[in-house]
Amino acid sequence: MNESFIIQTRSLSKRFFAVQALDAVDIAIRQGEIHALVGENGAGKSTLGKVISGIIRPDSGEVIVKGISVSYTSPRDALIDGITTITQEISLSSKQTVLQNVLLGQEDARGGILDFRRMRQRYDDIRALTGFDIDPHLRVNSLRMADQKKVEVMQAIARNAQVIIMDEPTAMLSGEETALFLKTVRHLKSMGMTIIYVSHFLREVLDLADTVTIMRNGQVVRSAPTRDETVNSLVTTMLGKPMEQMYPHKVLPPGDAPVALEVKGLRSSVFQQVDLSIRAGEILGLAGLVGSGRSRLVRTIFGAEDISGGSIRVGEQAFLPKSPQDAIRAGLYMLPESRKEQGLLLKQSVQLNITLPHLRHVSSFGGIIDSRRERSGVVELIKALDIRVSSPATRIRNLSGGNQQKALFGKWLFKRPRVLIIDEPTRGIDVGAKQAIYELIAQLASEGLAILMVSSEIEEILGLCHRVLVMRRGQIVSELDEAQKTLTEDNIMRAAFGTTIEQVDG
Ligand SMILES: Nc1ncnc2c1ncn2[C@@H]1O[C@H](COP(=O)(O)OP(=O)(O)OP(=O)(O)O)[C@@H](O)[C@H]1O
Ligand SMILES: [Mg+2]
Repeated sequence: MNESFIIQTRSLSKRFFAVQALDAVDIAIRQGEIHALVGENGAGKSTLGKVISGIIRPDSGEVIVKGISVSYTSPRDALIDGITTITQEISLSSKQTVLQNVLLGQEDARGGILDFRRMRQRYDDIRALTGFDIDPHLRVNSLRMADQKKVEVMQAIARNAQVIIMDEPTAMLSGEETALFLKTVRHLKSMGMTIIYVSHFLREVLDLADTVTIMRNGQVVRSAPTRDETVNSLVTTMLGKPMEQMYPHKVLPPGDAPVALEVKGLRSSVFQQVDLSIRAGEILGLAGLVGSGRSRLVRTIFGAEDISGGSIRVGEQAFLPKSPQDAIRAGLYMLPESRKEQGLLLKQSVQLNITLPHLRHVSSFGGIIDSRRERSGVVELIKALDIRVSSPATRIRNLSGGNQQKALFGKWLFKRPRVLIIDEPTRGIDVGAKQAIYELIAQLASEGLAILMVSSEIEEILGLCHRVLVMRRGQIVSELDEAQKTLTEDNIMRAAFGTTIEQVDG
């Protein structure tokens, strides 16, 4: 037994019905390292993390912690050994405050009375340690997803974790927030903590981790020091084949393509005067820093936020949506930014989730009137999107995170809209699935769909969009066009910052 390994597994296996989620997994985590887990959606990463942290029990095999074979029956057991996890989905108690959540189960009490001063002091210590500046008295459900992630990290620290499993912690963070978060992770490492880090951001992984383990189909393919790996070597191993071209060839819409969406003088409490239009077949990107108003703008166009004036036209039809239902009826669909917040009914089947916005007949039991045509439509979509699921009847919460995201896509493609708004479409999705989604987006556009895409990944915007609007402080400040060769990373950054890059640095 090598003493330097804090956690090892031996031939760990776990099956869910037809799916072998873990297949004889051997992994060894060194004390004090950042150990990354990468792999395609459904490769078994989250399952491995959950077994190690006592959330689920393996069918067979062993988890060895500090040389001793353990068999945890709950996360509490794992925490006694200093192991905790930050799951892919947020799991905080949403109605309680930040402070209550951070110190949940760790409350200071004197003579049975909560010692608020001491608790506040501990909170402030953790806040100073992480640099996460969150008001302790806010309710968790009023926080943005990014801040909720931070609360989870603070909670793990409050619990004196020695090993923290982080399952895609940056999937919902902005570029800036990610940089800060990675700094915190490094800081935790310098304090002697061991981190198991699950991520689809391969550059982030190479930059951050000491060791990387690549999983495929429930098996470990390779563990190696990150300095021996490259994005390419990781991707090739994850997919089991070399990666093809990431972005599809751009085909500009014909010059006479009709306008599919026109927004004129849109006003709300957040916007003064927004104008934009998209032609059929066009992919229009919305770029800008986080907080520049991109998501709020698309949510407003979709009827999910209040409009105080202006006009919107979908095709020939003028409308001002009061609710998303109005937008959907007009042929305008939106894939929202976060699947948990706004997207999926986790306890329901994949089929219901995909067909829900399109159903006319919902029975009084909340069940649906299933038609064979509907089912075959769903099966087709599952195939087209390569959603890894054994049957359309499977509950959606049993899908891996990335496959849930694909199902969310399916929901808006089940019936073809005229205009599709997609907000951060590839968050938490592996490279193989990303490429499939890029192809799908380009394909839909070539069939005449107008697409409005928000993304924080500049590479993705550059790779896919025909035209890009850059937002800053609730306003569109720049328009960049592929056809006019103005669509460059440099131009996007300059417009987003509202200054030259040199000035920002200086
Ligand atoms: N509770 C469950 N019930 C049924 N199947 C499950 C359950 N949990 C996971 N699975 C299946 O096990 C496989 C592995 O899932 P897991 O969540 O570990 O993948 P992952 O590598 O974390 O993927 P992602 O990158 O998409 O998050 C998937 O096929 C998934 O659908
Ligand atoms: Mg996962």
